[in-house]
Amino acid sequence: MKVVGIVCSPRKGGNTEILVTEALEAAREAGSETKLILVADMKIAPCDGCSACSKSGVCRIEDDMQDIYRSFEEADGIIFGTPSYFNNVSAQAKAVIDRTYVSLLHGKLRGKVAAAIVAARRIGGGQILSLLYSYFTVQGMMIAGGGIGYGRNKGDVREGPGGSPVFTAIEEAQAVGRRVVKTIRKIS
Ligand SMILES: Cc1cc2nc3c(=O)[nH]c(=O)nc-3n(C[C@H](O)[C@H](O)[C@H](O)COP(=O)(O)O)c2cc1C
Repeated sequence: MKVVGIVCSPRKGGNTEILVTEALEAAREAGSETKLILVADMKIAPCDGCSACSKSGVCRIEDDMQDIYRSFEEADGIIFGTPSYFNNVSAQAKAVIDRTYVSLLHGKLRGKVAAAIVAARRIGGGQILSLLYSYFTVQGMMIAGGGIGYGRNKGDVREGPGGSPVFTAIEEAQAVGRRVVKTIRKIS
């Protein structure tokens, strides 16, 4: 079993990275192999709508998204992390989402388990979870829920609250990691 966590914040070592890392550590403790992808280190162009992928089955843009396609395809579960930027996903997250049009057309993510993690200072968390759940649904993925961690500056989420009134941000991220592993076990 393999769970991949993708951090779509441009800020390295930031709150999204902390939360996704905690989720992956919990997944590892629950028995999964894990892999962390930091989009901040990568060059990912937006989809240019050429639609060549509908026939070829591959994206013709030769950039770091090619590694992400491979990682996603190898994964049983994907934890998708983004900061809240103007109540929405980051530009980096949207580029990754749009570039998986080829995955949608060729069913490459269908049946995989998916969960979302959002780092927010104050607003947008619930809305962004809903956006990501609808993305997962379009891709035919099995939704294993998600979590929000509140914090503004790098590291604030270590002490910050989670989206649920009963969890801290870190507890919420760990619960996401465990739930992804549990869901993969249930459906396999
Ligand atoms: C361009 C920009 C837009 C932001 N918009 C929001 C927002 O709409 N709601 C919010 O709660 N926080 C907003 N924030 C704050 C970040 O979501 C918050 O600092 C988060 O912890 C950043 O995660 P990171 O450290 O992984 O980048 C914004 C930050 C930036 C840089």
